[in-house]
This record gives sequence, C-alpha cells and structure tokens, in this order.
Amino acid sequence: MNAVATISRPADGAADIARLRGFVTAFADLVAATRDEGAILESGRALLSRLIARDDWLPEQFTRPHPERYQQYLLHCDSRERFSVVSFVWGPGQSTPVHDHTVWGLVGILRGVEKVERFRRSPDGRLIAHGEQYLREGEVDAVSPRIGDIHRVTNGLVDRPSISIHVYGANIGAVERATYAADGTAKSFISGYANGVIPNLWDRSRNA
Ligand SMILES: [Fe+2]
Repeated sequence: MNAVATISRPADGAADIARLRGFVTAFADLVAATRDEGAILESGRALLSRLIARDDWLPEQFTRPHPERYQQYLLHCDSRERFSVVSFVWGPGQSTPVHDHTVWGLVGILRGVEKVERFRRSPDGRLIAHGEQYLREGEVDAVSPRIGDIHRVTNGLVDRPSISIHVYGANIGAVERATYAADGTAKSFISGYANGVIPNLWDRSRNA
C-alpha cells in the first residue's frame, strides 16, 4: 500500500471522518450565505443526502443504542450555534415522545427504518394526527414551525437499531421546546446530549 492510500483510507478501519468534516464545512458555507429557511432546507437536503448515501463515516461510539431509551449524540455544533449535527440511535421498539423542535430540521436515515407520525395542534390545543410515513435508508425528511414541527419517531425495525443523522438550525440540545401528551398538553424540555465527547473532525493526518 502506498503512502497516499494509507492517508486516504486509514488501515486501522477508522471511520472516514473526512466525510463528516466536508459536510459540516459545506453546511457552514450554506448558513453563512443565506438565512432563508426554504433555501437552507433545499440545499441542506442535497448535502445531507450525499452524506448518508454512504455508511462508512460515523464512528462506532455514536452508533450505540441504549437498552432503555433512544440516544442523541452530538456530532458537531457550529461555533455560532447556527446549526448542529446529531446522530439519533433507536434500539428495537424505542420511540420519541410527541415533540416539537421550534427551529428547522433535516432528518436523513443512515441505517434501518424510522416511522414518523406527524401532528398538528387545533386552535384549542388538541393534537390532530396528520399522517405517517416510513423513512428508509437514504431518505431525508424536514421539519420546522413553518412546514410542520410536531411528530413522533419510532424505530421501524423490531430486531435492529435504526440510526438517523439530523441537522437543526440551532444547538438543538440547548433549545427549550416541548413534548405533548395525547390531549395536547405541552411540557417544556431541553434535550441535552447523550455524549460528553464529540468526534475529532480535524486530525487531517488520519484522513485526506
Ligand atoms: Fe424530532
């Protein structure tokens, strides 16, 4: 193996983190160029589609399910908190509560299948089911207060974890938002993150 090949594809089987670095760099360019939500969702969808088209870059520690609850691993937060990138991992049978985001978000399926149930609130605050969809590997969904912001996500597989990569228009783990009971009662929450250490995107000696 020559030196160039060794640098571009680490011999120890490490994830190709350069793909994630390229993604966050391109997304930083996008949010610097426009604050228009529609433009960010359209161009961001193309960037996320490209990222999840291959499943060779997410380090293993950010793919681990928890036996009791879904995991939300921060992969990157923009230094000005204009966007964040998160790996969500659902074990078999796991589900989020019905929740909102309050900012735009993109959801791309990296591994497995996710069931998305969408809701709206009636003028008197009740939750109204607004359709459901199964998202499969390579597919990208979007949320925002403008286009529909309330949903519940469930692992669509009964025997394996599912993993999706999310991008949000804020440091999502620090955003005050809400979960909703079946009668529409809102409860404030701040999600935080499951991890205390994020991937090192910047050691260019390991990846070209
Ligand atoms: Fe969500």
